[in-house]
Amino acid sequence: MAYPYQIRSLDEYKAAYEKSVNDPEAFWSSVAEHFHWRKKWDRVLEWNFKEPNVKWFLNGKLNITENCIDRYLPEMGEKPAIIWEPNNPEDRVRVVTYNRLHKRVCQVAQMLKNNGVKKGDRVCIYMGMVPELAYAILGCARIGAIHSVVFGGFSAQSIADRLEDAGAEFIITADGAYRGEKVIPLKNVIDDALIGNRTVKKVIVYTRTRTAVSMIKGRDVWWEDEMEHAETQVEKGGVVSFPAEEMDAEDPLFILYTSGSTGKPKGVVHTCAGYMIWTAYTFVNVFQYQPGDIHFCTADIGWITGHSYIVYGPLAAGATSVMFEGVPTWPNAGRFWEIVDKHKVNILYTAPTAIRSLMGFGLKPLEGKDLSTLKVLGTVGEPINEEAWHWYDEHIGKGRCPIVDTWWQTETGGTLISNLAGVTPAKPSWATLPMPGVQPVLVDENGTEITGNPAAGNLCIKAPWPGILRTTYGDHERCRKTYFSTYEDLYFTGDGALRDEEGNYRITGRVDDVLNVSGHRIGTAEVENAINMHSDVVESAVVGYPHDIKGQGIYAYVICQHMHGSQDDMRQNILQTVSRIIGPIAKPDKIQFVPGLPKTRSGKIMRRILRKIAEGESHNFGDTTTLLDPAVVEEIAKGKL
Ligand code: WTA
Repeated sequence: MAYPYQIRSLDEYKAAYEKSVNDPEAFWSSVAEHFHWRKKWDRVLEWNFKEPNVKWFLNGKLNITENCIDRYLPEMGEKPAIIWEPNNPEDRVRVVTYNRLHKRVCQVAQMLKNNGVKKGDRVCIYMGMVPELAYAILGCARIGAIHSVVFGGFSAQSIADRLEDAGAEFIITADGAYRGEKVIPLKNVIDDALIGNRTVKKVIVYTRTRTAVSMIKGRDVWWEDEMEHAETQVEKGGVVSFPAEEMDAEDPLFILYTSGSTGKPKGVVHTCAGYMIWTAYTFVNVFQYQPGDIHFCTADIGWITGHSYIVYGPLAAGATSVMFEGVPTWPNAGRFWEIVDKHKVNILYTAPTAIRSLMGFGLKPLEGKDLSTLKVLGTVGEPINEEAWHWYDEHIGKGRCPIVDTWWQTETGGTLISNLAGVTPAKPSWATLPMPGVQPVLVDENGTEITGNPAAGNLCIKAPWPGILRTTYGDHERCRKTYFSTYEDLYFTGDGALRDEEGNYRITGRVDDVLNVSGHRIGTAEVENAINMHSDVVESAVVGYPHDIKGQGIYAYVICQHMHGSQDDMRQNILQTVSRIIGPIAKPDKIQFVPGLPKTRSGKIMRRILRKIAEGESHNFGDTTTLLDPAVVEEIAKGKL
């Protein structure tokens, strides 16, 4: 069999789960054996959640790119690793074989070396969804540089903050990126981000859109020139090579910034071996990937889903991964279905937001599209409502494709709770059962475990799995505080969940001040900070509200000192400010100007009340007697948008 660690029946799942919990070391060692190690580990696991200190495969040596590429060359060099679908469906598709990927990754590694990048250096990557983005990521991994990809929807200010936090000295970007009809001028955004920056030494610029850019002498270089030069260095007599750096299992592989309940995003750190094994293991088992299958994950590589299930998981399993540059609704709302048809996709993995938005276009975009190659469907990023689940099942899967509802987080590296396609039962809108190695618990506010079924509580995990985050970059204490201090000896996910009689889990959403807008995590504090930057704003409070398509929308209550122009002008000004400070993805859907905010005598904003108003409640606000000025609640409710 292609994957000795692939679970093929419910009984096998039960047996694997039991073994993974009773003897995690033996269990994970038997999985890890199927990867390529330069040197085997001495010990499988060492951990405590107090510090926290988690180490997997201690003293094992490897390079993830040898696992994702080199080991497949002898037998499958000409197999497609990446099938790239361009923004414009009329443009040429690029099929990147494992051989070609190897060559490009060696070239990038050489190019990085030529530009002074060394093992452990942080490289910020800000690109669109082009194959070169995958080459850049893997090129970093090949020389042991730590990549930090920043999503194209973040502003110059957000990039500047991340560059500083990571102490990044190198950037890989492009002149621009295509997204549907739009061109995003990436290099110009980078130039703004670099005003006042003192650490960045080199910016490598890939040409995609021919957007005018200003190249600064001594700092900015063209990707094409550098790659051409590198090609002559890595290719000798028709043989391509660039020796991969030997990495420790626990060396950092990448940093990915994500939002939490504070105003400042955290740099989640994943390491080489544990992350690799977790993404490959979950990829093969959740989707039940079979050799030859075409896997299409529609996420952007700027988010964890793209890292784990477009790049690392599929490649570590020797799979074929479709990478799509554009957006689902351009040139029309049939684009995903056209891609499935054109590339004979077998596994489609997307987000509830995309499903809901495409549902809105009706069935016409599906006409004439052959979806018969599909075997497995997946969803991720936010709770999926039953209506969307059934639409996906009926109209896309035609009732014959299992749907996997995969629950996980940037911090978890890969899926923690999900059914295994066709192997363990699905239940609409339930993520269902934990992956082997994952021990979920529900706790009440005091941290007491809620046993028995059914149950509802805050979702925590009892013990480490190989893909758990190891730290938050440059601030380990923050990692401890955020994830390991709310409840003693538990990893706290920030999500609430239900458990049914059979032990299935249903994720109900965040219980902290984190919003999930179209599957993107945004901290309310971050948005408030951005709004408060506007000179006319005195104070603001941001909450989420149910949104038909996005899952959650952003509702901002704002107190202004005085209005510059009309309310609408002021709204536009605030939106502009949020775009500048965080990026367009954090723009509030609604901005209500209010005379005051409901505060307790100690000055704490009672968000519970604001949430209720945003949800459309006009009377029952619960106990408001502790408020400094209870009358303000009525007034806010009257002005609801
Ligand atoms: C939410 C994305 C319900 C959850 C991989 C989590 C989900 C946050 C699901 C992490 C799901 C993710 N069902 N909710 N299947 N998957 N979530 O870090 O609230 O961008 O905490 O990782 O998304 O978002 P992140």
